Amino acid sequence: MRDILISEHISGATINALMQRFDVVSLPELWKDQAALRAQVGDFRALIVRNQTSVTAELLAAAPKLLIVGRAGVGLDNIDLQAAKAADIVVSSTPDQNAISVAELAIGLMLSLARSIPAADQDTRSGNWARHQYVGTELYGKTLGIVGAGRIGYLTGRRAQAFGMKVLAYDPYLSPDNVLLGELQAELLELDELLKRADVVSCHLPATPETTGIFDSARFSRMKPTAFFINTSRGSVVREADLTAALKAKQLAGAALDVRETEPPERSELESLPNVILTPHVAALTVEAQERVTRAICDDVSRVLDGKPARNAVGAAFPKVRANK
Ligand code: MLT
Repeated sequence: MRDILISEHISGATINALMQRFDVVSLPELWKDQAALRAQVGDFRALIVRNQTSVTAELLAAAPKLLIVGRAGVGLDNIDLQAAKAADIVVSSTPDQNAISVAELAIGLMLSLARSIPAADQDTRSGNWARHQYVGTELYGKTLGIVGAGRIGYLTGRRAQAFGMKVLAYDPYLSPDNVLLGELQAELLELDELLKRADVVSCHLPATPETTGIFDSARFSRMKPTAFFINTSRGSVVREADLTAALKAKQLAGAALDVRETEPPERSELESLPNVILTPHVAALTVEAQERVTRAICDDVSRVLDGKPARNAVGAAFPKVRANK
């Protein structure tokens, strides 16, 4: 029996420390080959993944010794939680550790859209000095609509307040007297009303059946023609073809996407639109966030392998001891 299988790129001092205590096999490309992953996982007591490994019921069925799946990140859409629960496998994630980094990227994209920073940079590098082509807009006094007001949405709102923005929120799971909404002085609205009123819409929704394609042509048509749309959450919430059409029809002024419908994405018309900023799912990828994420996930994996409860378990913190484990 082996200890820990890592199926994506995760490195650093904490992983090295984990290797001192446990038998760790790190195969950063393994997530790309589900059959190879299935063939390997059967021997291990722990699996550490990011967002690219599909932890399906089939994979878990091939892992009779598995006690814990450590998800180094926030989104749990790549893990079959019901299958993990049914198999008494602990699932641990790191919801707080990268939230600041994601919020900071959302603010960065907001400023980049409002001031056309990437386009102005490209243009200047090509030898132009077209100052008057880059008259931007201020964030000050504008309205930010946060769609999904969890941790990341809240932190984005706090930072927007520092720019003098007013905050609106849509979150079907929050009540209007929620304390964090109070801190944001945010009005809790229905999504369509928020889209009508916001100058910047920043999306922080998880990928679930109810959020799939929530941003479609009907939703984009409700936005102000001067508004910007930002998505740093999950690509499945946006119908990219609808966003492309809406941008071409000038139903909104610009968009920034850090996450895509498929990753890596197929080449599409979005890339040729001047008012679009595209980044390769990097919101959580900062030195600080990755250190925190890796530390938290290694800590929980070690704890479970040592017979202690996980600190960041999504459901039960202890695996049930089974005869075959
Ligand atoms: C997350 O869910 O934590 C982010 O999308 C980053 C990641 O998965 O690597």
